[in-house]
Amino acid sequence: MVQIDIQPDAASLMHATAERLTALAGEAISARGRFSLVLSGGSTPKALYALLTAEPYVTQIDWARVQVFFGDERCVPPSDERSNYRMARETLLDRVPLPATNVHRMRGEDPPAAAAAAYERDIRSYFAGCTDEAGTAPAWPRFDFVLLGMGDNGHTASLFPGTAALREQTRWVVAQYVEVVQMWRITLTVPAINAAANVAFLVAGAAKADMLQRLVDGPRDPDVLPAQMIHPHDGRLTWLVDEPAATKLRKRG
Ligand code: 6PG
Repeated sequence: MVQIDIQPDAASLMHATAERLTALAGEAISARGRFSLVLSGGSTPKALYALLTAEPYVTQIDWARVQVFFGDERCVPPSDERSNYRMARETLLDRVPLPATNVHRMRGEDPPAAAAAAYERDIRSYFAGCTDEAGTAPAWPRFDFVLLGMGDNGHTASLFPGTAALREQTRWVVAQYVEVVQMWRITLTVPAINAAANVAFLVAGAAKADMLQRLVDGPRDPDVLPAQMIHPHDGRLTWLVDEPAATKLRKRG
């Protein structure tokens, strides 16, 4: 099921997203005692993360029961200004009562392939307790909420056009050198994201309007537009966008 939620402006978009995240956290914690949240990098979510550190959200969310993961990371040290972890730490993680042990960081400072394998082990360990009736560990991680951005070239997380990561069907996490940004990246794979219960793209600003229209209303071309590969097979996909980004979307009833 795909839902498009259009908010008048960026400020209301961030509040709507914070309300949705808070509600999902409450539901997951009530039902299972914990909430697995996958953060996006980039610049768009900064305003959302800052909002979550203030009332009413900061007290509505039971942070001790929130487990924070990352959708992708640049292969740089955590102190590097390009680090998604550093951005999240400065705007959110250091400003809410979240135990440090609840933060699952992709180690961008380590050799990329080893860091990706280590991250996969970490996630598998986290979900190992979610066995089925036969006691079998899950084939894929069922994150409660995966927050994604949309790059202006149609990438999401670090799933870039024409890269091998788009074809990964077994691993949960991979590392690859991405020519277009000239750096190594670590990313959740498409099937790992598509196993989530809730996935939301957060898209704001007029500069994203053309790409958003291509992704949502245009022909499917997933190798060129990797964000089109995201459709949870047993979960909800929501596009959380503001009016400036939505101006070219076809009108929906
Ligand atoms: C990253 C992000 C990436 C981002 C998009 C949108 O590591 O850069 O994970 O997927 O979400 O590029 O970035 P902006 O929000 O800055 O437009």
